[in-house]
Amino acid sequence: MLEVIHISDTHFGPDRSLEIRGANACDRAVALVEAINALPFSPDFIVHTGDVANDPDPAAYALAAEVLSGLKVPLYYATGNHDDVSMMREALRFGPLQPLVPDEKDQLCYKISGGKAEDFELFVIDGKVPPDEGPHGFITENQSEAVLRAISGTKPVAVFIHYPLTPIGSKWIDRHLLVTNGAEFQNAVSAKAGGQLRGIFSGHLHRGLQLFRGGVLQSGVSSPACEFTAGPEDDFCDFLPGGPIPFNHITFTADATMVKSYSLPFINS
Ligand SMILES: [Fe+2]
Repeated sequence: MLEVIHISDTHFGPDRSLEIRGANACDRAVALVEAINALPFSPDFIVHTGDVANDPDPAAYALAAEVLSGLKVPLYYATGNHDDVSMMREALRFGPLQPLVPDEKDQLCYKISGGKAEDFELFVIDGKVPPDEGPHGFITENQSEAVLRAISGTKPVAVFIHYPLTPIGSKWIDRHLLVTNGAEFQNAVSAKAGGQLRGIFSGHLHRGLQLFRGGVLQSGVSSPACEFTAGPEDDFCDFLPGGPIPFNHITFTADATMVKSYSLPFINS
């Protein structure tokens, strides 16, 4: 059994003062760290599905590293559209991992390794496209091939990525925020995993998400910094001020996957 905490989209600024629509991103991340440390069990590790920083700035990653080092278990990170891979590698500590595209300096694509993770095949992949191409994601062929090669077909598989792979039913989000070749990637992984694909775990939407597409769990966690609107007819994405501070608790067993979504009470900063 593996106990994983899933967090995302902390949007750290270069110092503790950054506010996003009146909500202090650092204070809210500190509250998130305290809540995870107060859990009545010790998770095996934590996965942060990206947008660690609000803008790619070494000072923002230094602040993120300082605050998140308060978490007493290994951490893993995916690249968000706001992130910079070389700055992440420089500032953040990752748990044991096996790189899947070791020659790529600008991609974070790896298999979580060590301890109980060896009973599973858990992949963190990088969907970032150049910033001027937009906030959607794309999975490159080298990553797709590397992940498919690493799937044995004998163990449960899960994928962590910043961007959701498949539509959620909200106009603007489905048009702008998804992995454009996500369904194709999910189908290929699903086929290679032989029915053992346990889920796609993402951030980016700043909304909690638990749904099934193609028979596969799509599980998202919101942002502690701010929430987005996500109505079915929304033709734009607005920010909701503040919002609950969220994290998901994922339990993987040999034959089941459970996700519990938690949110802390609203705070005024
Ligand atoms: Fe974000």
